[in-house]
Amino acid sequence: PKRFRVQHLAEAKARGEKLTMLTAYDAMTARIFDDAGVDMLLVGDSIGDNMLAHDTTIPVTMDELVPAVRAVSRAVRRSLVIADLPFGSYEASPEQAHASAVRMLKEGGAHAVKFEGGRRVAPQVELLTGAGIPVFGHLGFTPQSENILGGKRVQGRGDEAAERLAEDALALQEAGAVAVVLEMIPAPVAARVTEVLRIPTIGIGAGVECDGQVLVWLDMAGMGDWSPRFARRFAEIGTALRTAASDYVDAVRGQEYPGPEHSYES
Ligand code: KIV
Ligand code: NA
Repeated sequence: PKRFRVQHLAEAKARGEKLTMLTAYDAMTARIFDDAGVDMLLVGDSIGDNMLAHDTTIPVTMDELVPAVRAVSRAVRRSLVIADLPFGSYEASPEQAHASAVRMLKEGGAHAVKFEGGRRVAPQVELLTGAGIPVFGHLGFTPQSENILGGKRVQGRGDEAAERLAEDALALQEAGAVAVVLEMIPAPVAARVTEVLRIPTIGIGAGVECDGQVLVWLDMAGMGDWSPRFARRFAEIGTALRTAASDYVDAVRGQEYPGPEHSYES
């Protein structure tokens, strides 16, 4: 299959073709999602609360994320691999962001990076873009700032907040960002940002008018007991896996497994 590249982002938006993104944190799921035709795989810092048993994304380190990025990059044939920059790895300066992003490409094999924030990280976006590293922005509810934002809340409600969001999105575009993730903002606000931008918006809890959608794969596949309101559970993988494991336990205890077909003759 032909690789999905950052050049295809603006083309897809111009043609009105919706873009698809899922998170992936390992080779097995990455291969499945790549086979399924998902355009972009995000090795998100959501690895923290989803895979590493942290409460938030804030404790996630570069050293935890880089091996996951490498596993996903090795597994894909078509999907674009985007590495999140974790909390504390890019905010202080463009140089800090550059050092982190370079690790994601050189050690991780990522094709692009993503980090949170608007105007305040525009210098980071500009330096990385100039250095040959495509950048995805992330606005609206930005989990790394939850201590400032007062928890997991919808952002961009009201005219003033919506205006600030649009200005942040434009600042990212002007700095060279290739797309912007919009998380948990009212659908009409996301629609307006999508209209004013040349680059695509990728929504999560941001309505159907965004140029594409992203979900944490565990929420999409029903892996955990709970998914956020904005996620549709396209399967009940958690229940299927629990049933499989408990059937295995019963079969071993009941000596129904292994059967002759699973055993070697002398
Ligand atoms: O880390 C992540 O999974 C993300 C998406 C929810 C956009 O940043
Ligand atoms: Na993230």
